[in-house]
Amino acid sequence: MKKTVLWTIFLSFSLLLQAGDALSLEIVYPADKTSVTRSDFLIIKGGNTPPLEGMTIELGGAKSDLIDVSSPEYRAAFKDFLILEPDFSPGKNLVRVEGFVAGKKVAGAVAEIFYQADPTTAVPPGIKPFVMHIPAREALCAPCHNMTPDKIEINAETAETNPCAACHRRMLDKSHVHGPAGVYRCGYCHNPESKPARYATPADEAALCNGCHSDKVAAFKANKFVHGPVAAGLCLVCHDSHASDNPAQMVAPINDVCLGCHEPIGEGIHVVRGVGGKGHPLKGVADPSQPGRELSCASCHDPHGGKSTAFFRRGITSRFGLCQICHVK
Ligand code: HEC
Ligand code: HEC
Ligand code: HEC
Ligand code: HEC
Ligand code: HEC
Ligand code: HEC
Ligand code: HEC
Ligand code: HEC
Repeated sequence: MKKTVLWTIFLSFSLLLQAGDALSLEIVYPADKTSVTRSDFLIIKGGNTPPLEGMTIELGGAKSDLIDVSSPEYRAAFKDFLILEPDFSPGKNLVRVEGFVAGKKVAGAVAEIFYQADPTTAVPPGIKPFVMHIPAREALCAPCHNMTPDKIEINAETAETNPCAACHRRMLDKSHVHGPAGVYRCGYCHNPESKPARYATPADEAALCNGCHSDKVAAFKANKFVHGPVAAGLCLVCHDSHASDNPAQMVAPINDVCLGCHEPIGEGIHVVRGVGGKGHPLKGVADPSQPGRELSCASCHDPHGGKSTAFFRRGITSRFGLCQICHVK
């Protein structure tokens, strides 16, 4: 008799344990062994039966308090999803999540992710870029988000109406927003039918830009001397397709972008050997030729090309002619 009771207890206990094990707790984004280029979201999905009541997150050795996900309001909106804004350190990060029911830990998950804060840092072997828009992942979101917008919906013009905006609107929270991205023409550049992942962009980025900027591109190419990356059709090494905090949606402040490929210019003396052996200022002062703008490499060089080997601005061909646009006596 006693034995049976014990067995029953043991059995129900092991059943509970099994239920506990079956409780999946998944780090959806960024997934284990993937890399991301932004520290924007951390998306976790808890199992459904029984619902998790709380979760803790450990990142970079710091552990959060118990996050309550049990309120009816929360569950009505997010069910078993938890979306956080993490603060990843550049490079490797270890994310550890634990799920609780009635104060007891019942599930856990760990992900090793790589935050590629700077696109020039190499991602270690064994880590692949995170890809969201594959069927298995999209299925997780489909209960609440429109994951199959038609051709009209995908280009709906406002953050409230565009389905992509529900998850991506923050990428436009910048001071310089590119025309078509600002009016949510996501479907102009992203193909909803691409495979294996949806929303691929054309491989030929210059042709994509040319679709709307054909006049500009023709003018760049008509220059006697065309700048290397422009000739190669690499618009995106300098420009962001969506938005940035730099004029002309530059991926970084102009001089940083230029010096990324022309490192010696930043180290040597440029243009003139002035008083005290210093070169010409290259930034940090006002540009007399363009009111309201700071001096930069683009104050003297046209970033796309020009009529002289060093692409002086405004099609200027002589050194002296260049000096004169700012130093008029
Ligand atoms: C149970 C419903 C539900 C599911 C399933 C769901 N979400 Fe959401 N999600 C929401 C709600 C509600 C919001 C808030 C909507 C708003 O603010 O417009 C939201 C907002 C977001 C945001 C924007 C957060 C912000 O503040 O900018 C992202 C990103 C997001 N979800 C990603 C996902 C992803 C990825 C999946 C699938 C892996 C997913 N969600 C599945 C309900 C859900
Ligand atoms: C449920 C939320 C959600 C919705 C809706 C959504 N995305 Fe995403 N998308 C994500 C997340 C999360 C990522 C991965 C993080 C990132 O790259 O921003 C992502 C990544 C991407 C990527 C990079 C490639 C990839 O698959 O990881 C592209 C391109 C993209 N989304 C385009 C779109 C477009 C266009 C729409 C609208 C038709 C859209 N997304 C709608 C959540 C969403
Ligand atoms: C002018 C063309 C263009 C438009 C418009 C555009 N994109 Fe993109 N997008 C691109 C290109 C090109 C890439 C891939 C190269 C890159 O990373 O910049 C890309 C990459 C992405 C990525 C993955 C890389 C990243 O930065 O996270 C996401 C997410 C994305 N687009 C979302 C969107 C959404 C949402 C919209 C609508 C608001 C949109 N895009 C509108 C051209 C565009
Ligand atoms: C769907 C049409 C469209 C496509 C495709 C497109 N653009 Fe644009 N672009 C615009 C519009 C509209 C503007 C804003 C009006 C203007 O300043 O000409 C703009 C403005 C710009 C600007 C000027 C921003 C400023 O502050 O002066 C740059 C730089 C730019 N686009 C680069 C690109 C690059 C690079 C690509 C390819 C990835 C591209 N565009 C693809 C429509 C487009
Ligand atoms: C080496 C970096 C670099 C490359 C590569 C580059 N751009 Fe630019 N682009 C710039 C800078 C810097 C500006 C801002 C110039 C200024 O305002 O003085 C600019 C401005 C622009 C503008 C708006 C101002 C104007 O000249 O009308 C457009 C449009 C543009 N670029 C399109 C493109 C396209 C399309 C490509 C690819 C064929 C491209 N750019 C390649 C750096 C670059
Ligand atoms: C993606 C790499 C890359 C970026 C970014 C870049 N350049 Fe260049 N640049 C090149 C290449 C490649 C050449 C051609 C090879 C050469 O002549 O040195 C070149 C050539 C030049 C030349 C002519 C050199 C000569 O010998 O006469 C100038 C001037 C120049 N770049 C200025 C700039 C400026 C200004 C910027 C920023 C707006 C910039 N570059 C950004 C790659 C780059
Ligand atoms: C005040 C005007 C001015 C500024 C600002 C300026 N340059 Fe120059 N740059 C020149 C002149 C003048 C030459 C010499 C051209 C010649 O003699 O053929 C030159 C030559 C160059 C060359 C080709 C020769 C060489 O020295 O390699 C490159 C590349 C270059 N500059 C890049 C840059 C970059 C990158 C920046 C920003 C960090 C920059 N320049 C800022 C005026 C300027
Ligand atoms: C796009 C504008 C611009 C161009 C083009 C330009 N400069 Fe300058 N230059 C400046 C600015 C701004 C300063 C800094 C003035 C200040 O600090 O008040 C400066 C400072 C100087 C100085 C130091 C003078 C002083 O008072 O300390 C010399 C020398 C000089 N430039 C020579 C040249 C020569 C030579 C050329 C042509 C090869 C040239 N600059 C082209 C904007 C320009």
